[in-house]
Amino acid sequence: MSPLHVVILAAGQGSRMKSALPKVLHPVAGKAMLHHVIETARQLGAEKIHTVIGHGADQVRASLDDATVNWVLQTEQLGTGHAVAQALPDLPDDARVLILYGDVPLTRKDTLEAMVGDLDDRNLALLTVDMDNPHGYGRIVRDTDGQVQAIVEQKDATAEQHEIKEVNTGILAVSARHLKSWLPTLSNSNAQGEYYLTDIIAMAVDHGLSVTVSQPLNPFEVQGVNNRLQLAELERWYQRQQAEWLMTEGATLADPARIDVRGEMTIGNDLWIDINVVFEGRVSLGSNVSIGPGCVIKDATIADGAEIKAHSLIDGATIGANAQIGPFARLRPGTELAANTKVGNFVETKKAVVGEGSKINHLSYVGDASLGRNVNVGAGTITCNYDGVNKYQTELGDGVFVGSNTSLVAPVTVGAEATIGAGSTITRNVSGSELAVARGKQRNIAGWERPKKA
Ligand code: UD1
Ligand code: CA
Repeated sequence: MSPLHVVILAAGQGSRMKSALPKVLHPVAGKAMLHHVIETARQLGAEKIHTVIGHGADQVRASLDDATVNWVLQTEQLGTGHAVAQALPDLPDDARVLILYGDVPLTRKDTLEAMVGDLDDRNLALLTVDMDNPHGYGRIVRDTDGQVQAIVEQKDATAEQHEIKEVNTGILAVSARHLKSWLPTLSNSNAQGEYYLTDIIAMAVDHGLSVTVSQPLNPFEVQGVNNRLQLAELERWYQRQQAEWLMTEGATLADPARIDVRGEMTIGNDLWIDINVVFEGRVSLGSNVSIGPGCVIKDATIADGAEIKAHSLIDGATIGANAQIGPFARLRPGTELAANTKVGNFVETKKAVVGEGSKINHLSYVGDASLGRNVNVGAGTITCNYDGVNKYQTELGDGVFVGSNTSLVAPVTVGAEATIGAGSTITRNVSGSELAVARGKQRNIAGWERPKKA
């Protein structure tokens, strides 16, 4: 089959966003709208993706490396037909060309695959939707046999044509050969003085092509974004889909309307996810994982049976089976917790490798550290890993007991089964099974009188 080339129109201003950020860079589910479209084009197996840019071109270009897309500059926005024409020199004659839009981010791959699947020189594939209120859209004009004849824009349509409920989504596919012969002949003598891409429909009919019409499963697939209200509508639709997917796969959601997924997830069965949980990046959750309200979980792998309690932040961490995390824990990148570990409230970990059954239950900072099995870190323990210039490592052997309010001044190693007295500042290594106490000796002064006011 002939190669597929995708042309994405993204040169418009998007003034109704009222934003310094180009419209197509506004995110849906944490990813720029344009990047959603490019991702879909890639999944379709496009040989090349041409993106037509104009307003905010430098910013848009900087958002992706030049290897992923062929940037096509449209210096003046003279209409959708003119925009596609800018890409013509980069399209091989034998290509099938699919036209997409940088501000229409959520079209399903299957919908587009059906359009380009059996496209050849003899047809043009058009994606339409029926709308109760079609105002503003190009209308699909059909003859008495129901064959598509043309598209007329809102401003050029007759009163009779305004009654047509079937509208143009803008998405179409046709061979490059035809685009190359038709686009240069477009005229801008219409109500808006623009070169309309939609005029090629009538040309296709004139040249004896058949117009193959299909419709998306859901109108949100072709919903464009002109303002922040529409952006929010699309975001909520997208999130509803994610919630439905999670429930289908085996997660119970306290409220499907109060969960956001900004990335990709894999999950096991019988999960419980409470309200206001945000997932970002790549997250993998095992079976019987429970996540409390208000958690943010990013780029994490959480094994079977782990429980993440309310308001915990997990970023770049691996959590073992049946671990208990939070409430109010903050796990930062490089945290690797083995099975049956506990990290409790107001604990921050970073690059901390923690062995099976170990506990850091309250108010601690454990960074650049490795802990063996069954280590107990008392409340208020701090690894002093930074001297202002370099970072150093703390190592605690199996079965170490660290008393509360201990400072472990790294680099420092504590041998297996050693005990550290509460309130110690440990600056020297401790050997296995030793007791280390490093704090001021207590003095009790009898008969002490408090100072009195003069
Ligand atoms: C277009 C269609 C209309 C359809 C509607 C669906 C035409 C003439 N009309 O109308 O039939 O119902 O989309 O939303 O195609 N763009 C450029 N360069 C330009 C002009 C536009 O890159 O010179 C981009 C814009 O950034 C935008 C998209 O093309 O993303 C659509 O352009 P717009 O002017 O909004 O077309 P509509 O009037 O909405
Ligand atoms: Ca538009």
